[in-house]
Amino acid sequence: MTAPTLSVTRIAGALGAEVSGVDLGDLDDTTFAQIHAAWLEHQVLFFRDQDLSPERHKAFGRRFGPLQIHPFLHSRKDEGHPEIVILESDADRPAVAAGWHTDVTFVESPPMGSILRAVEAPPFGGDTMWSSMVAVYESLSDTMQRLLSGLVAIHDTARTFSRSAYPAEKHPDRDAMPSVEHPVVRTHPETGRKALFVNPAFTSRIKGMRRRESETLLGFLYGLTGTPEFTCRFHWQKNSIALWDNRCTQHRAVADNLAAHRRMERVTIEGDRPR
Ligand SMILES: [Fe+2]
Repeated sequence: MTAPTLSVTRIAGALGAEVSGVDLGDLDDTTFAQIHAAWLEHQVLFFRDQDLSPERHKAFGRRFGPLQIHPFLHSRKDEGHPEIVILESDADRPAVAAGWHTDVTFVESPPMGSILRAVEAPPFGGDTMWSSMVAVYESLSDTMQRLLSGLVAIHDTARTFSRSAYPAEKHPDRDAMPSVEHPVVRTHPETGRKALFVNPAFTSRIKGMRRRESETLLGFLYGLTGTPEFTCRFHWQKNSIALWDNRCTQHRAVADNLAAHRRMERVTIEGDRPR
């Protein structure tokens, strides 16, 4: 019996911890259980120097559950890895996910989590931020928590993967994706903690409210997402990995070095229906 070498160091007050002393490409069950427990506790975990092959990246994801194939984003499917999404930018392609969002909430069962690996990291800038939707929810008054807990929101692809930018000819799955309803506050299926579950990328409105009411309430909640005390921020190096719980967080890239080459690869773990 060897002593555990894994160490977990929090990087911010609301969420986020850096884990060292592990090789994600070669995990025994005990170490995986420690990582899983730390992930539930800290909502997002960071690892350095993880030079994972696509196969090992996917194998780590599958420890949590089946992997999702993203309906729109570019992937390594031509190399036999449709589960690995490529997020790449440089001076000619300055696109980054620079708005707060939770991944893929426009389907009935949004992902449980994602594992993002930096293949090429910018020399400076290009960080990613996460915000705890548990911390946001818990910051609200009992009265506001009660109001939100009775509400349902509509999610769709209209703002982020629009029909014009991602036409049905190229993305045949899209017509099987009508808008979906999710509770505005969901209860985490593993921790039991309550978290706000609306995001500006995919939530179109709150059901049963007039447009102005919905926009005002969502705008208020979105304003809380970026509150520094509810967030953490991670600076990427080549072979850094972030593993986040998509059920209780939002994230965004920081678009402050758009000319730099940044290539990220992500696997996404299927989740359950929010309730
Ligand atoms: Fe994302």
